[in-house]
Amino acid sequence: MMTTLSGRSVLLIIGGGIAAYKSLELIRLLKQRQAKVTAIMTKAAAEFVTQLSVASLTAEKVYTDLFSLTDEVEMGHIELSRAADLLVVAPASADLMAKMAQGLANDLASTTLLATDKKILIAPAMNVRMWQHPATMRNLATLKGDGVRVVGPNDGEMACGEYGPGRMAEPVEILAAIEAHFAGSAVPLAGATATRPLTGRRVLITAGPTHEPIDPVRYIANRSSGKQGYALAEAAVALGAETILVSGPVHVPIPPGAQMMPVETAAEMLKTVESELPVDIAIFAAAVADWRVADAADQKIKKGSGGLPDLKLAENPDILKTVAGAKTKRPKLVVGFAAETENVIANAKAKLAKKGCDLIIANDVSADKGVMGGDKNTVHLVSASGVESWPELSKQEVAQRLMAELARRLGAKS
Ligand code: C5P
Repeated sequence: MMTTLSGRSVLLIIGGGIAAYKSLELIRLLKQRQAKVTAIMTKAAAEFVTQLSVASLTAEKVYTDLFSLTDEVEMGHIELSRAADLLVVAPASADLMAKMAQGLANDLASTTLLATDKKILIAPAMNVRMWQHPATMRNLATLKGDGVRVVGPNDGEMACGEYGPGRMAEPVEILAAIEAHFAGSAVPLAGATATRPLTGRRVLITAGPTHEPIDPVRYIANRSSGKQGYALAEAAVALGAETILVSGPVHVPIPPGAQMMPVETAAEMLKTVESELPVDIAIFAAAVADWRVADAADQKIKKGSGGLPDLKLAENPDILKTVAGAKTKRPKLVVGFAAETENVIANAKAKLAKKGCDLIIANDVSADKGVMGGDKNTVHLVSASGVESWPELSKQEVAQRLMAELARRLGAKS
């Protein structure tokens, strides 16, 4: 299978810092997508990860010493810096960033970075105070001004016990930034000019719960907040899509630029979705109620009038399945969400087949995970070609990465 990275050559410069261990995972992800990865390790990096593990994962020689005569004969540092399509510095320590900003060249990593004629992407990682220090902020501004792209750092608990910005972006986020570079999209890259790969495309997203009336004042509902669906709509707008958000009742602001169509019941949601077809991508993030009350009362059901009310339930239409199985007007990409509390991946695989969609985004919504109503999400992308698991990300990050991925898949299809 061809990927955006097939045949691309990445020179990975591993700086010193505890986050260096994550660069091993980054190498694995890059190799999985058929990129060639050559690595340079700084002296400090070698204190955190071994040359042997980097060599094993890249299946290439690892460069460490500026003054190795053999290396210079085989491949000089100038050539090393030019043979790659992209230079990635992960982790980019405060020291490496300072050297880059100053144009210092006193070891192999800094010399290569100075000698290159290729784009550079850095993933900074350092202690919060070091990151927030005016010197680092100055260096960051200089680097951005020089056209260096930046991914992260993220907020979070750090190895040193402090909390705040400074954690290196996760390998999948760095990977997304690398893929976006090669795909010509700049979405995950800070400071880059955004291109809009979904310009001229229509994206439909369902979001929120549905309310199924029992009588004029009561209804059956669920705990869906709509946050993930709304974040997806925001990300789709950012990528240039004409975005239709078919939403059940929620308390989330409508993303500017999205066309919001409010609905209450599953039946209304299906009708509205069908009236908006055709679209290029349809994402079903709504938590649609499985059942409705078969004969909702026209008047408020009175307490005590003839015992307990006997509520008969009827099955709601499955909107995702209906659209995925549509004979005409089936969207090019149909994406479902699978909120599960157990056997998350196995159930998602079963759902992919049952619903006939192209991709299922599976997430664990057990009460202890706090996904429903919360701001974070841990998802697995399940498709016919396999399973890709992402680390815990904010719902915004999940949305941005997912829309970038869908834009890529749509581009590959048409
Ligand atoms: O069957 P389940 O509810 O677990 O499936 C989840 C996926 O199917 C979600 O993408 C959800 O939006 C969609 N769905 C739907 N209509 C239904 C039930 C689920 O579109 N009636």
